[in-house]
Amino acid sequence: MKIAVLASGRGSNFSAIVRAVKRGRIKAQISLLICDRPGARVLAKARRAKVKTSLVKREDFLNRQDFEQKIIQRLEDEAIDLIVLAGYMRLLSNEFVRKYKNRILNIHPSLLPAFKGTSAIEDAFNYGVKVTGVTVHFVDEGMDSGPIVLQQAVKIARADTLASLEARIHKAEHKLYPKAIALFAEGKLGIEGRSVIQ
Ligand code: GRF
Repeated sequence: MKIAVLASGRGSNFSAIVRAVKRGRIKAQISLLICDRPGARVLAKARRAKVKTSLVKREDFLNRQDFEQKIIQRLEDEAIDLIVLAGYMRLLSNEFVRKYKNRILNIHPSLLPAFKGTSAIEDAFNYGVKVTGVTVHFVDEGMDSGPIVLQQAVKIARADTLASLEARIHKAEHKLYPKAIALFAEGKLGIEGRSVIQ
């Protein structure tokens, strides 16, 4: 089982996944990191972990189709089985998602379907919910809308600040994402309609 991680930023989830592979908790290999931002910290993390990196920038292509074609070429070069989005800040086209149907996972820092979008932790905090959390889901054509694999609740305490909540959310992500990927790698996830069956 070969995994490609797509990421744009810090890469803390990437590192958690690499650790889980090293410890034998995920029975798969991280064959490739694809990143779209030259200065992203995840690139240095991948190099340190001796994971092959590929920088594919949107600006280098005339249109989205050519951009995604380049990504597909990289994925095919490495014979990737599973695509793991870990803070990848771009929406994938419908064509791309259909090509890799049920083979793309994403992690989102809220209990979906609440607080979709790019500022989920802050939105939940500002809304005043008492419980938020983390969701791992398959990617479909919508935004943060695919079948849910695992969820973990995170309580918001009165003393929480946005920063303390963010820290707890990320801690939960670093446990939940490797768990979901391990289930996929072991062939334990089936999809029936919107439901993921273990
Ligand atoms: C995470 O909070 C994840 O849920 C969201 O993007 C963030 C990525 O963080 N999709 P990192 O780059 O893995 O540290």
